[in-house]
Amino acid sequence: MNPLNHVAIIMDGNGRWGLKHKNSRNAGHKAGLNTVESIIKQSIKNKIKYLTLFAFSTENWKRPKKEINYLFNLLENFLINKIDDLHKQNIKVKIIGSKNFSKKLNLLLNSAEKKTSKNSKIQINLALNYGAKFELISAIKKLQKNKDKIDEKNIEKFLYTKNIPDPDLMIRTGNTKRLSNFLLWQLAYAEIFFEKKMWPDFNDKDYLKIINDYKNLKRNFGKI
Ligand code: IPE
Ligand code: IPE
Ligand code: MG
Repeated sequence: MNPLNHVAIIMDGNGRWGLKHKNSRNAGHKAGLNTVESIIKQSIKNKIKYLTLFAFSTENWKRPKKEINYLFNLLENFLINKIDDLHKQNIKVKIIGSKNFSKKLNLLLNSAEKKTSKNSKIQINLALNYGAKFELISAIKKLQKNKDKIDEKNIEKFLYTKNIPDPDLMIRTGNTKRLSNFLLWQLAYAEIFFEKKMWPDFNDKDYLKIINDYKNLKRNFGKI
C-alpha cells in the first residue's frame, strides 16, 4: 500500500456544470464550494497531511471581469464565514501563488494564514494566482541574485511549496487531460488521475475510489 501524504487537485468543470444545470457559469463556481468542503473532510478522514487545491491560475485573469469578480467574492465570503470553523478543526491554510489582490482580500488571506499557522491536522494549500512557470522563473531569478548554485535543493528552497513534500497523487476533474501550468516541478513523480465528472459532481465515493486505486499502484521512481 502506498503512503498518501499529499493530494493535489485541479478543481475543473465548474463553469460547464453551472451552464448545464443553472444556465450560469457562476452558479457552478458556487456549487463547487460544497465539493471543496466535503473533500477537505474526506482528506482528514483519510489522514492526508497536505491538500493542494488549484482555485485560480495566472492564466485565469483572461476570463471576463464579471466571472473573475464573482470568484473573488466567493473566496472572500468563504474566508469570512469559514475561517473560524477551519481553525477549530485544526486546519492550517497556506496560500501558494502571487498574493497581489485587492487590499481587502490580501488582508483576509494573510490573516487566515496567520491564524491557522500552528494548526496540524491537515495543511490546505490554496493555489491562487498560481502559475508553475512564474514560480520557477522567480525561483531561478532569486538563485541568480544570491549567486547560489542552481540545483534541485536550491530551486526547491524558493518554490511556494518549500518544506512541503511533493504531491503523491494529482486529480483533475472536468474530463480534461492537461496540467494547465499547475505544479510542473512538484508533480514530477505524482500519480495522475483524470476524472470525467465536473468538480461540483465529484463526491466522496469518487474520491475514495481514486485514493484506493492510487494506494494499490506500483510506484517505481525510476527503479524496477
Ligand atoms: C475551474 O472550473 C475553476 C476555475 C478555473 C476557477 P472552470 O471555471 O474552469 O470550469 P470549466 O472548465 O469552464 O467548466
Ligand atoms: C485550471 O483550470 C485552473 C483551475 C482549476 C483553477 P482551467 O479551466 O483554467 O484550465 P484550462 O484553461 O482549461 O486549461
Ligand atoms: Mg476549466
